[in-house]
This record gives sequence, C-alpha cells and structure tokens, in this order.
Amino acid sequence: MFPPKEIALNLLMHSSAVRSRARRRHNTGVLSDAGHGRQVLESFTALIPEALDGCAILEVGPGQGVELARAAIGAGASYCAFDVSEYLDTDAIADLDLDYRVDSSGHMPWPDGSFDVVWSHSVLEHVPEPASLLAEIHRVIRTGGHHVASIDLETHLGGREDPEHMYEFLKYPQWMWNLMTSHRSGFVNRLRLSQWRSLFAQAGFEITGERIRSARCGLDELRAVPYLRSYADEDLLAKAVTIAARSVPATAS
Ligand SMILES: C[S@@+](CC[C@H](N)C(=O)[O-])C[C@H]1O[C@@H](n2cnc3c(N)ncnc32)[C@H](O)[C@@H]1O
Repeated sequence: MFPPKEIALNLLMHSSAVRSRARRRHNTGVLSDAGHGRQVLESFTALIPEALDGCAILEVGPGQGVELARAAIGAGASYCAFDVSEYLDTDAIADLDLDYRVDSSGHMPWPDGSFDVVWSHSVLEHVPEPASLLAEIHRVIRTGGHHVASIDLETHLGGREDPEHMYEFLKYPQWMWNLMTSHRSGFVNRLRLSQWRSLFAQAGFEITGERIRSARCGLDELRAVPYLRSYADEDLLAKAVTIAARSVPATAS
C-alpha cells in the first residue's frame, strides 16, 4: 500500500456522488451465491443450539446477498434483515418472506428481545464503532438467545496470505489508516481476535463457540515482519473467525 495513493482514493470517495456510483458497482460479498448461502447457514447453525424451524432470526448487513436468508427461510425461520445502506431492491426479492429494513443511523427498528438469533457475515470488521453495534445487537436478542458473527481479520486491500501484506494495515497509526480508508469499502477496524473476545464480553455476551481459520504462513514468517512483533501468537495466526455467543443479562456481564 502506498499511503498517498490510498489517501487520494479515500478523498475521492468523500464525494457522495462518487460514493453512490461506487456503491452501485460494489459487489458486497459472497452471499449472492446460493451454494455459499447454504454453506454459511450450515456453519452458523452448527455453532448454536437453536433449531431453525420457527426461530426468529435477524441478519445484520446482508449487503446484496440474500442467499443466507433464502436458505434459513427455506428451513422454517422467520427472517428479518437490517442494513445501514440500501443494497437490496425489495421488488427483486418479493418472492422471499423477508422483512428488510435500512437505517443509516444504525438504530434497529425492533423492540428489545425481538430475536432468538442475530447473525452477520463479513460485517463486524467493517464497522468503525463495533462496541455500539454489539450493544444494539445485544438489545434486540432475547436473553439466552445467540449471536453468530463471521469476522474476516485480514486486509481487504490485496495481499491476503502473504505475511508481508496480510496485516499490513497494522503498520499505520489510527489517524493515518482513517485518512487512507474511512470512506472506502476496504476500511476495516483492524481488531484482533483477543480484542473481539473482550468486546463481546463487554457487550453482554458469553462466548459459546469459535471457529478459527488460521493463516497459511507460519508464525516465524509473521514474526519476521517488524510491525507484527508485539502481537500475541493467536492474534497473528487467526486470519478469520466465526464467534458464537449467548446473550446474558447486562448485569451479569
Ligand atoms: C462486506 S458487506 C457483507 C455483505 C454480506 N453479509 C456478505 O457477506 O456477502 C458489509 C455489509 O455490512 C453493512 N453494515 C456496515 N455497518 C453496519 C451496521 N452498523 N449495521 C448493519 N449493517 C452494517 C454494509 O452496509 C454492508 O452491507
């Protein structure tokens, strides 16, 4: 990454006209593919005790992808989806029994304790203030219900799996990173696995399961990169994680 170029790209995205043009062209992720939707459903449900039939589910941040929703609705779930940007054309998904809501403020338009399960795929890493989102998710899940989040911990700007580049974002101070990416889809909050665990606990969640995907390169290769030396082994080796957590009352958290 060459910071002046990244800063120029980010400033360009500051223009709302450029941003909305880019959003129309942006492919938000893998959940527009039916096979991926079924795979993600299987991996999520394997981590929680709730049966899908009759389960009230909220998906956070579907982007353009409805295939996780389609698979869960097909298995009998009652399904809502919430996003901060309007990516879905409701006419195009009229065949789906999906309650889709958008609010750029991040406030979810449902009463406390509305859902048995809230899940998200490739969303939490893109959120500048994840503690606020986790608090809102905690509010809308019933006590004892579950939250499942798959979180990508690698760069979104190229160089995945390469020890020199996969965590290159960690070399920049926060202010510089924001200047380079704050308006771009490549923005990620750079939190490591141990920080996610702490944030989940602070928001009132008890972690019940984790599926960690490990970097293909070894710890020695990562440790040889100067700006990675101070990180814990697990925080370097985990390139993605799916966390399942049970909602506990705020007083017990
Ligand atoms: C990388 S896309 C992932 C799309 C989809 N989940 C997938 O995996 O194919 C990230 C999505 O999260 C949404 N998002 C970001 N912050 C959010 C928030 N606070 N609440 C709800 N959705 C959010 C974005 O608008 C976008 O739709």
